[in-house]
Amino acid sequence: MTSIVRTLRSVLRFRRFGIDPTEVRLSRAANVSDLRRIARRRLPRGVFDYIDGAAEDELTAARNAAAFRNVEFRPRVLRNVDKIDTSASLLGQPLAFPLVLAPTGFTRMVEPQGELAVARAADRAGLPYTLSTMGTRSIEEVAAVSGGRKWFQVYVWRDRGLVKEMLERAAAAAYEAIVITVDVPVLGSRERDVRRGFTLPPKMGLDTIIDGALHLGWTWSFVRSEPIAFSNVVNRSETDESDPVSLADYVNSQFDAALSWDDIAWFRSIWDGPIVLKGIQTVEDARLAADAGVEAIALSNHGGRQLDGAPPALELVGPVAEAVGGRVEIICDGGIQRGSDIVKAVSLGARACMAGRAYLYALGAGGERGVDHVLRQLHEGVRRTMALTGATSIDNLTPDIVHWRDRTGP
Ligand code: GLV
Repeated sequence: MTSIVRTLRSVLRFRRFGIDPTEVRLSRAANVSDLRRIARRRLPRGVFDYIDGAAEDELTAARNAAAFRNVEFRPRVLRNVDKIDTSASLLGQPLAFPLVLAPTGFTRMVEPQGELAVARAADRAGLPYTLSTMGTRSIEEVAAVSGGRKWFQVYVWRDRGLVKEMLERAAAAAYEAIVITVDVPVLGSRERDVRRGFTLPPKMGLDTIIDGALHLGWTWSFVRSEPIAFSNVVNRSETDESDPVSLADYVNSQFDAALSWDDIAWFRSIWDGPIVLKGIQTVEDARLAADAGVEAIALSNHGGRQLDGAPPALELVGPVAEAVGGRVEIICDGGIQRGSDIVKAVSLGARACMAGRAYLYALGAGGERGVDHVLRQLHEGVRRTMALTGATSIDNLTPDIVHWRDRTGP
């Protein structure tokens, strides 16, 4: 009898009662999809849809994620996986596991600390953070809070003086590499943003006021923080940054659609460090990038936010690695939700992956601690998948541990 009571008592023991709501929320978030669900509940619809949405029918965005489900492991066993080393190297420098935090615009819209929170979390996790030109914290503000690896993403404004000036600031602030985004000659059509009347900064209309009232936690922190601006181009672009604009109007009026391969030499002449070209989507362009002498390419369709119908980056990794893997480092961007996704991309020939939405959902779900949480989960996922596939170091991740299962599947 006493032993039954003892058993029941142990079964009935309550979980430690958490009082910190962020901690409670995060402790129940098992993966990126859970974080996305929490972010969706907490963020105004316009903000959530700007992050979560993609171009037109969002086919490419869906296929980015689906591609990972079509890669299957060939797990090897009895390989002594007692000690696992997930560390990798990219652009000649170490990283804790093969992941780079992708550039994302307007991060302060999700949480007032914005890019500062993400950069600090990346630093703690031993990963490079890429600050977007469309960031809402400046090059210098981010450098002041993170002594870790920092990359600077460049959109090419028609005003090349502005671009040059930003690169000088990035060099002065010890950013290690520039990431030139090459898949935005014009902005893709994000139809959710059209439906929501989404502008930057957000415009106050009846619908935004109702949306704000339904998400009071977000609204309270948003109204208490300083106004959002494109911090890196304040007072420099021709538009007044305090005027709400649609992203499409801004990009299509400010960015240089005439950008071409010839401009890579110009970047080389004004930037001493490594150059990453982000937005390569064919083997032919990967060859041209290698010929142009850039150090790395990010196979990317901008998270499906640009050309709907572009191929998932993961499907390009193998063919591109075969064509130019010895000449240029390959980063796979788009659809990363799990550590196992990173292991799949690396096994197929990528040196690392890039992820943006995963950390934005986490930021929306739990602020800076949310970003720590997702990076920890991704790292754990890499380690666990390596153990389960019989790999003890990143060098063991080779094409023979994976195979494509069925490209037409779900
Ligand atoms: C900006 O780069 C965006 O994809 O919205």
